[in-house]
Amino acid sequence: MTPPNRPISIFLIVNIILISCVMATSSSSTNRQTEHQQPLLSNGHNALLDYDPADLNQPLLSLITTNDLPGFHSLLPNTPPSVLTAALNLCLRNNKPSFIPPLLTHNAPFNRHTALEAIRGQNSTTLSLLLSPPHSMSPHGTSTSGHMTRPIELALRLNNLQLVSILLAHGADIDSHEFEVALTHSSSELVKRLIEASEEAKYQVYRIGALQIAAGAGNLEMVEFLLGLPGMSIDGRPRGWRKGTTALMEAVGKGRVEIVAYLLMNGADPELGNGEGEGSYKKPVELARELEDGDEKTEILELLKLAGEEGEEQGDEVRMEL
Ligand SMILES: *[C@@H]1O[C@H](CO)[C@@H](O)[C@H](O)[C@H]1NC(C)=O
Repeated sequence: MTPPNRPISIFLIVNIILISCVMATSSSSTNRQTEHQQPLLSNGHNALLDYDPADLNQPLLSLITTNDLPGFHSLLPNTPPSVLTAALNLCLRNNKPSFIPPLLTHNAPFNRHTALEAIRGQNSTTLSLLLSPPHSMSPHGTSTSGHMTRPIELALRLNNLQLVSILLAHGADIDSHEFEVALTHSSSELVKRLIEASEEAKYQVYRIGALQIAAGAGNLEMVEFLLGLPGMSIDGRPRGWRKGTTALMEAVGKGRVEIVAYLLMNGADPELGNGEGEGSYKKPVELARELEDGDEKTEILELLKLAGEEGEEQGDEVRMEL
């Protein structure tokens, strides 16, 4: 005999959790603006630090700050190229569009920060201008070290669809790290655009475990979007990186209650263990037990328990029918 209230209980709990998550998400999106005012690049660089300190005291730069365009025009002809570059980067970062054409006319050289500053300024007209002939700035940036954030990563962190589209249209590509940034920082609309535009992105969706990344990051909107893609399975286990882990395991391991609830409600198998053939065989419930004590752990254990019981009941029903 099965207690009649059981199938309803998981639904109730899941709904309560989802509602509280929606509320949490909407309040966290208001924090986004302030987040973006933090240094966005891993090296926290300041473009102007690339210059001779003497350049920073150049009157030309203070004319930009005070919006003195006539004064700026009159000083330009006698300004050395390094100061022109500093001025260009400053104007790009602070979105001072009227100062940019005269700098380009005076052949201000680009340096490795120029493309990034254009992204920071978030003016799509200015970005298009720089990427088009005769200026033809590289959409990859000009850093040769390979350690520096590329413009597209910054645009993805800023979740700026327009800037990303412009970069792609000018031949920018994305690598697996940048795609991961998109999965964790950008909207699903932007990830959709990447998948449409880039074969590499399409391939990476399945290879790098996009669903696992989004689940681990607690990005519910992205999880929902990815599950709607052709061939995406809720219990899928990528072959490459994050080999063998399911989205449920990632969500449980990171204590993402709302994602766990969503995945279970949509039929994720709570019994699948980690690894195939080698490695550990931890099931979601074992991963949950390893979480730090707290509300997340309690709620996830409860959800897994309810899902397990429901699974058993369905098994019982099948056996009775036989
Ligand atoms: C972006 O730059 C263009 C000129 O390149 C300017 O006309 C426009 O006002 C700028 N947009 C914003 C939002 O500042």
